[in-house]
Amino acid sequence: DKGEFRHYMLKEIYEQPKVIAACLEGRISDERILTSCFGANSAFLKEIENIHIVACGTSYHAGMVAKYWIEDLANIPCTVEVASEYRYRKVAVPKNTLFLTLSQSGETADTLAALRMAKQLNYLTTLAICNVPSSTLVRESGLTLLTNAGAEIGVASTKAFTTQLTALLITSIAIASEKGELSAAQQAELVTALRSLPAYVDAAIKQDEAIKLVSEQFANKHNALFLGRGPMFPIALEGALKLKEISYIHAEAYPAGELKHGPLALVDETMPIITVAPNNQMLDKLKSNLQEVRARGGELYVFGAKETGFEEAEGIYYNEIPWVEEVLEPIVHTIPLQLLSYHVAVVKGTDVDQPRNLAKSVTVE
Ligand code: M6R
Repeated sequence: DKGEFRHYMLKEIYEQPKVIAACLEGRISDERILTSCFGANSAFLKEIENIHIVACGTSYHAGMVAKYWIEDLANIPCTVEVASEYRYRKVAVPKNTLFLTLSQSGETADTLAALRMAKQLNYLTTLAICNVPSSTLVRESGLTLLTNAGAEIGVASTKAFTTQLTALLITSIAIASEKGELSAAQQAELVTALRSLPAYVDAAIKQDEAIKLVSEQFANKHNALFLGRGPMFPIALEGALKLKEISYIHAEAYPAGELKHGPLALVDETMPIITVAPNNQMLDKLKSNLQEVRARGGELYVFGAKETGFEEAEGIYYNEIPWVEEVLEPIVHTIPLQLLSYHVAVVKGTDVDQPRNLAKSVTVE
């Protein structure tokens, strides 16, 4: 039931504060992650020396964000690969490697095949972060962390993605703490930030009307370039995927530092550039990348907190998102990109919930 909403996708975007709270429920105390959420025997967390993440589509983008968290917080090497590639190559598995799959449906054929292959290899254990408790992936994995997002009907994944990120951040903090990489005080600070997450996401959704206005200028575009740096690069990839999927506008995403190495040649007055600005040491670097774009006539659409210092100007459309702790930025900054692609698709009149050629769950190769 879509209730008051015109499409399932919009309903699911608006459900995010509630389902992120459900994903946190019972998994954090006031000052730490409750490792019991990984099952009765969470001793494996201490043993992890390496992580291989395997997934498809939006779930793969969530894995790409997790790599930044895992290497930064837990100081453990992490690789991320699409399941359709992983399953057809010989994989070298270092000692004590965790095999981690991500899937909304738990029925994606390539992800399941990758898991079955991994079970023949010498992994420490297999962990699935999944939204469907009765799925094949959950049944066949050693351990499971459910995302608790509730049924997702829209083909374009929204709440499944942000709850995957929430579950991945819980996992990253848990591993980092068990490995002795975080002090009790650092862990408490991260958990406090996590507690604020539903309210932050709610505040980001409040920009809906403003983003709807911006999206009207988008409907006649044929291409779009999304730029991000650091963990905001996978968020740019996810923004581009959403736009392609439901509005059929050709979109690409690049780490902003790669512009000069090729994609800058595409930029002229007809090429909109969309970016989510982080509020950290990468901000100045991003700003200089954006100047290169502006100098070539590219229109900029910037989403960022007030603290980033962006303002509306000739050729620059700025939308504010709330300030949040750096570690949470990938989750909160996803919201404006979801809303942008939604409204562009509505203006274009495409079938938002059932985009052409796509299925919700890809159960064939
Ligand atoms: O159910 P899964 O998370 O395994 O699905 C993987 C992809 O097919 C899925 O994320 C797809 O990319 C979405 N439709 C994107 O919105």
